[in-house]
Amino acid sequence: MSPILVTGATGRLGQLVVERLVAQKLPVHALTRHPDAARQLFGTTVRIVPGEFADRISLDTAVRGIDRLLLLSPISQSLAASQIAVVNAAKAAGVRRIVKISGSDWTIDPPGGSIAGDAHAAVEQHLRRLPVESVCLRPNAWMQVSLANTIKQVRAGYPVTAANLDAGVGYIDARDIADVAVHLLLADRIAGGALNLTGPDVKTPRQIADLIATALGRRVAAIAKAPSPIAADADFEHRAIAQFSTLIAAGCAAVTTDVVASLLGRPPRSVEAFIFEHLAAQAALAG
Ligand SMILES: NC(=O)c1ccc[n+]([C@@H]2O[C@H](COP(=O)([O-])OP(=O)(O)OC[C@H]3O[C@@H](n4cnc5c(N)ncnc54)[C@H](OP(=O)(O)O)[C@@H]3O)[C@@H](O)[C@H]2O)c1
Repeated sequence: MSPILVTGATGRLGQLVVERLVAQKLPVHALTRHPDAARQLFGTTVRIVPGEFADRISLDTAVRGIDRLLLLSPISQSLAASQIAVVNAAKAAGVRRIVKISGSDWTIDPPGGSIAGDAHAAVEQHLRRLPVESVCLRPNAWMQVSLANTIKQVRAGYPVTAANLDAGVGYIDARDIADVAVHLLLADRIAGGALNLTGPDVKTPRQIADLIATALGRRVAAIAKAPSPIAADADFEHRAIAQFSTLIAAGCAAVTTDVVASLLGRPPRSVEAFIFEHLAAQAALAG
């Protein structure tokens, strides 16, 4: 099989995708600005391709001989430009399939509520216009980011706080996103379009506090707290995160779909399992 290129390979989700492809003994190329760090992370299991989204020459080198591409980049002012540059290089090199990690569905649709969602939407639109097979994964909020932060806060002695304690989220475990991404990279045929990926159910901050309390065997308070005002000169990422909080408080993320189960033939991982597993791992680390 021709190699698969993963961008964002050294990040939170990229690493999970790479480790799954490597476990199947597939040839993986990883684009990175930090080749030495990437080599330490992946050893010799992956071909490290030094490069940078803003450097077209490095992108042209990275996509040469590639059949399938996992497209992922962090939230930033340059998200749309970066991803479109990778897509254009991939198309020119004859890459056959692109699996894009997009924003959460509720950040993209309806448009105008999220600068990050709008940037992802621009890339999705670009992909739709190209004669390259593509699918865009729109994962709901990841357990490994938002929930892990909440657990960290509680372990440090603080309560669970949220602008709206009754606004739930259909959290998804990042390992399920990686499983779906790998499934779609390797499938013989894909339907294309955009897929809304969620966990199995919606959990509110009050329910999260109760679940962590059960796991820790102590009371955990849930307290309503207005979001801190965002500075006028805040950067793109901070403005994007503030908008996510507003949309979540309005209940926009309280969504579940059966996409993960229908693609993988098993239910998505649950919030309960994540909390217990995460706390056990933290306790083991603490000795
Ligand atoms: N967290 C959530 O709940 C959530 C929900 C839905 C969608 N998403 C989407 O997930 C994505 C973020 O994924 P993540 O958290 O796994 O990312 P991450 O951990 O922040 O990793 C970022 C990756 O991008 C690479 N990178 C950054 N700038 C680069 C550049 N200029 N050129 C080449 N590579 C560059 C980094 O590689 P090097 O440092 O090695 O160069 C790193 O591997 C975003 O697009 C976000 O919208 C997140």
